[in-house]
Amino acid sequence: MTTAHQSDSPKARIDAGLKHLWYPVLASWQLGSTPRGITRLGTSLVLWRNSEGQIHAVEDRCPHRGARLSLGCASHDRIACWYHGVEVDAQGVVANVPAADHANMRGRKALISFPVEERQGAIFVWFGGGDAPPLRLPHEPTSQEFSGFLCTAVWRCNYRYAHDNLMDLMHGAYLHAVSHSMSGGEKRASMEVVDTPDGFIFRKTDQAELNFDWVEFMDLDAHWMRATVPYGPGAGPGGPFWIIGGVVPIDNNTCQVFFWRLRKVSGWQRAAWRFLYRTKLEARHWAVLEQDREVLEGLIPDARDHESLYSHDAGLVRLRRLLSRAAESELRLEAQAEHHAVSWSETRA
Ligand code: FES
Ligand SMILES: [Fe+2]
Repeated sequence: MTTAHQSDSPKARIDAGLKHLWYPVLASWQLGSTPRGITRLGTSLVLWRNSEGQIHAVEDRCPHRGARLSLGCASHDRIACWYHGVEVDAQGVVANVPAADHANMRGRKALISFPVEERQGAIFVWFGGGDAPPLRLPHEPTSQEFSGFLCTAVWRCNYRYAHDNLMDLMHGAYLHAVSHSMSGGEKRASMEVVDTPDGFIFRKTDQAELNFDWVEFMDLDAHWMRATVPYGPGAGPGGPFWIIGGVVPIDNNTCQVFFWRLRKVSGWQRAAWRFLYRTKLEARHWAVLEQDREVLEGLIPDARDHESLYSHDAGLVRLRRLLSRAAESELRLEAQAEHHAVSWSETRA
């Protein structure tokens, strides 16, 4: 596999991205009718749509001499390399070698293939190998009671800083103090962590619905964040603004963030929200997101190694602990699998 990282320590594994997860990798609109090469978790993949629009993903390297398959041409369930025409199917098996009658690689499983799902305007890939568990989304993006838009952006920082940023409630009242949604509320707070069946909630104990006052982390075999921020009267009907967030590592220094921006609305309120978002609110939300991006991309190198945390950082400390345990478990399982594979091959020898 074309990987940029040897993830053999828990810290290295977390920084590169836990593997036993579904990740959003692209918005649906980012994959058209031609193949697209992307890097996610340091791995190069090519994605393409078959004639029914279903998406396939395999490693982005030709088994012949290593050309990028993403430069080639897709035809239904196969992709053909531009260099000499070798065709690989959606399972990563060499399906045809048009230039030679006898080629050993024909019929060989040469590339890793990845389970793919397309849901709620985004493309998700499972990086854990083996059988993927069902992709589960939080309630709001799939609910008829909510109406939303998917916003995505590439940030030049390790994905964990995007995680930490969502666990950082107090930044709303400072970084976003001059914004349409987070100018209210106190600039001091006490906070607590509350366990939930799928993760935990981190919230302010003395303030609610005045700023960015709570966030929930959910482990659904994909890592999700849920939060709300208040809307003023100028934002029309429908109560607070809901955010369902996810992030995928591209490499150790870059990530792509995904935010489903939603409101609980129906009937004419739904139409009003969609109109207001497109004409007025979307630009304001982008301005807020740019504030986050500017700070995160400007963090000092290895910022996590030079921190002095206080009580408001309890949420991100909890999250980091949870990721550490998950990384240790992944590495342990992979070591056991490798050990069994070696023992089995020794038995046969
Ligand atoms: S490198 Fe792809 S067919 Fe030769
Ligand atoms: Fe923010």
